[in-house]
Amino acid sequence: MLVCIIYHSETGTTRAVAEQVAALIGADLIEVKDLAGYSKVGMYLKGAPRAAQGKKADIEPAVIDVSGYDTVVVGTPVWAGNPTPAINAAINALAGIEGKPTVIFCTSGGAPRKTLDLLKAMLADRGADVRGAVPLTARDAGKPEAVEALADLVRRSEKEKIVQ
Ligand SMILES: Cc1cc2nc3c(=O)[nH]c(=O)nc-3n(C[C@H](O)[C@H](O)[C@H](O)COP(=O)(O)O)c2cc1C
Repeated sequence: MLVCIIYHSETGTTRAVAEQVAALIGADLIEVKDLAGYSKVGMYLKGAPRAAQGKKADIEPAVIDVSGYDTVVVGTPVWAGNPTPAINAAINALAGIEGKPTVIFCTSGGAPRKTLDLLKAMLADRGADVRGAVPLTARDAGKPEAVEALADLVRRSEKEKIVQ
């Protein structure tokens, strides 16, 4: 099973989860960079309002071709209760996502609110077959059992749909 994990991470938590899952299941990692290059304060003053408005960032890579993969994983930090502008743009930048089994996750300080529902809807609009959704807190990111549960869901997702 060829898996790619597409993620955005400004402060390292989502990256840490993506890297641990990749190590467990042997996936390729695609880090999406927000070209805004936020400072710590800028993330809150500029990034959070943009996330709340559902904006799309300028990102690198500009095109994310997943046609060679069996399963796609997308991970985002929660910003103001939403996916980040970088991940909004990444969904737009996907090529070959139609019909692909897809698993989503987010990392957050507290409640993820509507983040995973929004991410799922955006991916479904692009034709992805979203089969699992996992909210993780920053604390979960340091727990092997939480990361293993996400990795297991990715392994199972090729065969079955775990969320409706
Ligand atoms: C600009 C900004 C907005 C955030 N908004 C929320 C939020 O609405 N709810 C929440 O639970 N955590 C929020 N957080 C915390 C992040 O979701 C959490 O620290 C996440 O794991 C960061 O991921 P990263 O380290 O991969 O960038 C916010 C963090 C930042 C920087």
